Amino acid sequence: MRAVTGIQPSGQVHVGNWLGMIRPAIALQDRYETFTFVADWHALTSHPDPDVLRRGSREIAAIFLAFGLDPARGALFCQSDVPEVSELAWVLGTVVPTGFMDRGHAVKAARDGGRDPNAATWWYPLLMAADILLYGANVVPVGQDQKQHVEMARDMAIKMNVRFGDDLLVVPEVSIREGVGLVPGTDGRKMSKSYHNTVPVLDAPARVRKAVLSIKTDSTGVDEPKDPDACFVYQIYRLVARPDEVEEMARRLRGTGYGYGHAKLALVDALERDVAAPRERYEALLADPATLDDVLSAGATRARAAAAVTMERVRERVGLHPRRSGGRG
Ligand code: TRP
Repeated sequence: MRAVTGIQPSGQVHVGNWLGMIRPAIALQDRYETFTFVADWHALTSHPDPDVLRRGSREIAAIFLAFGLDPARGALFCQSDVPEVSELAWVLGTVVPTGFMDRGHAVKAARDGGRDPNAATWWYPLLMAADILLYGANVVPVGQDQKQHVEMARDMAIKMNVRFGDDLLVVPEVSIREGVGLVPGTDGRKMSKSYHNTVPVLDAPARVRKAVLSIKTDSTGVDEPKDPDACFVYQIYRLVARPDEVEEMARRLRGTGYGYGHAKLALVDALERDVAAPRERYEALLADPATLDDVLSAGATRARAAAAVTMERVRERVGLHPRRSGGRG
């Protein structure tokens, strides 16, 4: 069974990205053959600074490796290293009407906000469907915000199969990442770069500590009992610490003599325990671009081998000739 995950490079990775997306994406390698890629073509739709995009793409790849993605098990690569993706997107574009594309939520959001989206933003769901269908993904684990895109990919696979034969493309299942729920930021709202409420992950320990200490708490005093579930520190701790430690913190918060300051320090320690080794690996990877490139090249080779199998079939069914130059790979 195959699982596909795409991640847009988008600035500094925070605890919310790590717990909500990166950690679950890496865990997939225990159960699936994984295709994990940096969605740099998708990122282009929002006009990033070229140097920022280049750097961000490498950083995301390094983060996945640092946190334990095993490139010997699953393919780790850059979307733009697999030109077959844009080739398949073109073919998919022929089976959906423009009205279907108008419903894509990125395009709708831009138009509702009075902006005229660029054509690639309109095309975005086709590129994403190609990412999914090219590798024959059985499952696509995404956050709620990407659910519609995976459903669109399903629709496109079904339309292709109706027209060109049942077994042409694997119809993928959406799987909404659950369990983690909302990771609160320092102000209690969902942790997000746009709210400026993030706790960094692989930054210097002093910065992580500073951010954790700034998490908003109410004015309940040290000697008054507190409700763990209403405490943002506890809500993050729950996702990081061991179950017995989590229970211990809940018990202490409910009792007296344990303040929010204590809870914050416990969270700092729990985070440090999990990220200290990845931070070192991350820094080593960024300092050694050749190794990172080797991993991404090997990932691209694997991804393209899988892509070639699908594209040969698609080309044949829709009436294109077999590729004349280059062939597979
Ligand atoms: N659009 C996704 C996002 O912004 C990233 C993405 C691109 C993706 N292609 C994908 C996710 C394929 C899953 C499968 O988060």
